[in-house]
Amino acid sequence: MAVLGKVYLVGAGPGAADLITVRGARLLAQAEVVLYDALVTPGMLELCKQAELISVGKRSGQRSAAQADINGQLVDCARRYRTVVRLKGGDPMLFGRADEELRALEAEGIEVEIVPGITTAVAAAAATRQPLTKRGVARSVAFFTSSTAPDQPDHPALPETDTLVQYMGGREAAATAERLLAEGRRPDLPVVVVENCSRADQRILRLTLATLAHGLDMAHGPVLVMIGEALARRAHQAPD
Ligand SMILES: C[S@@+](CC[C@H](N)C(=O)[O-])C[C@H]1O[C@@H](n2cnc3c(N)ncnc32)[C@H](O)[C@@H]1O
Repeated sequence: MAVLGKVYLVGAGPGAADLITVRGARLLAQAEVVLYDALVTPGMLELCKQAELISVGKRSGQRSAAQADINGQLVDCARRYRTVVRLKGGDPMLFGRADEELRALEAEGIEVEIVPGITTAVAAAAATRQPLTKRGVARSVAFFTSSTAPDQPDHPALPETDTLVQYMGGREAAATAERLLAEGRRPDLPVVVVENCSRADQRILRLTLATLAHGLDMAHGPVLVMIGEALARRAHQAPD
């Protein structure tokens, strides 16, 4: 009978190696095998030098095939190792295809535990010193993406919250800004874009909704777009 190991879906946080949880770091140090995705940084992999490392980074456009492959690899690893870590950027439960991986593992009767991570929105709020909520100004936040599954409409409705945080928005952000303007949002609404959040090459860009609608000149690394009145700079805020 094959070993039936336990799989841990561990959130790596936004990139900096010391922004993983203590539990996540302990599991990395105990893992026999670690399957990691493209957003996991080399510094993080230093925490699991003893483990076999399997890169399962996906390229956009090949999502479904790649995900089926990852699911298969996870099941296969659980049959060969006792402690399997599936390391995902940010938090595993947000835009992390956790549902697909959980289904595949549960269908095989494999035990799974989830270890949360710092999702990029929260890390980007910290990096830019911009709270996403603000008393009297912003009391609702949406984490959303315009990236859709193949069988879904291309332009799902945008959230109507005070603050909007767009994941996977490097290419979509300008179109999103145009749609928000068409829906009546103010052209001078503050926008903050963070590229490579928490990494050595982090970049912060401050725009307005109107300038975002003209396009985003970044997108060499992962990009997070934050929109809303709460993103306005404070009077005495230090430079980025
Ligand atoms: C597939 S989603 C994964 C999100 C992840 N599970 C999380 O909780 O942050 C990938 C998107 O997350 C955002 N992202 C992840 N890491 C980032 C980083 N270090 N800097 C900026 N954006 C990041 C980008 O919007 C990227 O396109």
